[in-house]
Amino acid sequence: MATPFAADETAAVVARARAIAVERLAPLAAELDRHHRFPVESFRALADVGLLGVTVPTRWGGLGGEPLTLALSLSEIARACASTAVGASVTNMVAETLCRFGSEELIARFVPRLTSGEAVTGSFCLSEPAAGSDAASLRATAVRDGDDYVLDGTKMWITSGAYSGVFIVMARTAPAAAGHKGISAFVLTPDLPGFGIGKAEEKTGLLGSNTVPITLDGCRVPAANLIGEEGIGFRIAMTALDGGRITIGAMANGIARAALAAVREHLHATPTGPLRTARKVAYGELLARTRAAELLVERAAVLKGAALRGEVARYTREAAMAKLFATENAKAVTTRAVELLGAAGVDRACVVERLMRDARVTTIFEGTSEVQRLVIGREVLRAGG
Ligand code: CAA
Repeated sequence: MATPFAADETAAVVARARAIAVERLAPLAAELDRHHRFPVESFRALADVGLLGVTVPTRWGGLGGEPLTLALSLSEIARACASTAVGASVTNMVAETLCRFGSEELIARFVPRLTSGEAVTGSFCLSEPAAGSDAASLRATAVRDGDDYVLDGTKMWITSGAYSGVFIVMARTAPAAAGHKGISAFVLTPDLPGFGIGKAEEKTGLLGSNTVPITLDGCRVPAANLIGEEGIGFRIAMTALDGGRITIGAMANGIARAALAAVREHLHATPTGPLRTARKVAYGELLARTRAAELLVERAAVLKGAALRGEVARYTREAAMAKLFATENAKAVTTRAVELLGAAGVDRACVVERLMRDARVTTIFEGTSEVQRLVIGREVLRAGG
């Protein structure tokens, strides 16, 4: 049984994340947004201090931290640059998923590439053009051929896809009739024949994060790259997303905190009078809601740690609640921040304008708010609640 990371060790990692966020990431954020630039150098800087493998055991180059360590670190990163935070979130998810479900051989081949920054980032390929929220309807196929599998299909909305060196790809090893039981998970690298990277999507926000389709055209991958066994790919994906939803919630909290900082600054510049009082009231409300979102994320992260130690069963419901509340809160806080700042708030040079666009994306990826509501309802009924 793994030993929990001590609270002071988590505090030290989070302090390191904050320092790197303030010194290295924040100064780049506006430029990345304006020029849609993917910050390879930022991921290398995060890897240098272990932040691309926070929960990965130290023998694979990670920090051996807790899910709470990861969540709090990602909030700090997102507060400075949400585009970098999403890439870091997915990379941590990919590394952690390989450690959890992969063989020693598979972990040894791919996880150190992620934690060291050699791979720049990791990507998670589940969605398809006709399989977004209904992930189990995916159509990409993986057909066994001798010592290989041959993959065909298209994966959509792949975060960091044009830059990643390691991809987890879900594909069907049994016909559609087998439903989610026919899905398997593979590790792919972009140098494989038949692996193609499409044109970057033009999104509303997170413009420094790269999002592309990935095409698999007779893509031949060694059978050794199958994660676990055939047929457990959907469970692997859902387990990964339980963790990913906590970190996207954490990221949303970082965005909300950045917007609150801008509102507070504006408040200080407002002369005493009814307007200042009204702004103070608004700030208090947004701060209270953001703290509630942080507590939900922290609770889900602590439960995930307990689940990994076998102390509790699933944390699916808490992860979905954290993602739903935190991302909807970030959307509301950033929108309100724009209104409170008035004309300045809609100026492209103003940080809250970017934060509002970045927050908008968080309610959609890793399961939309509708999907989170569905998951919460189902989990409550499943538990007989
Ligand atoms: N953990 C472990 N296993 C789980 C699970 C979980 N959280 N949730 C479901 N499963 C298992 C179930 O136990 C079941 O297995 P058995 O039949 O063996 O018991 C199996 O998976 C199927 O479960 P469901 O019947 O609940 O599956 P479903 O098809 O009805 O799922 C859904 C519905 C929850 C909406 C799911 O499709 C879903 O989460 N959709 C959203 C997909 C999503 O979040 N995509 C994000 C893309 S990735 C991304 O955005 C990353 C990025 O780059 C930023």
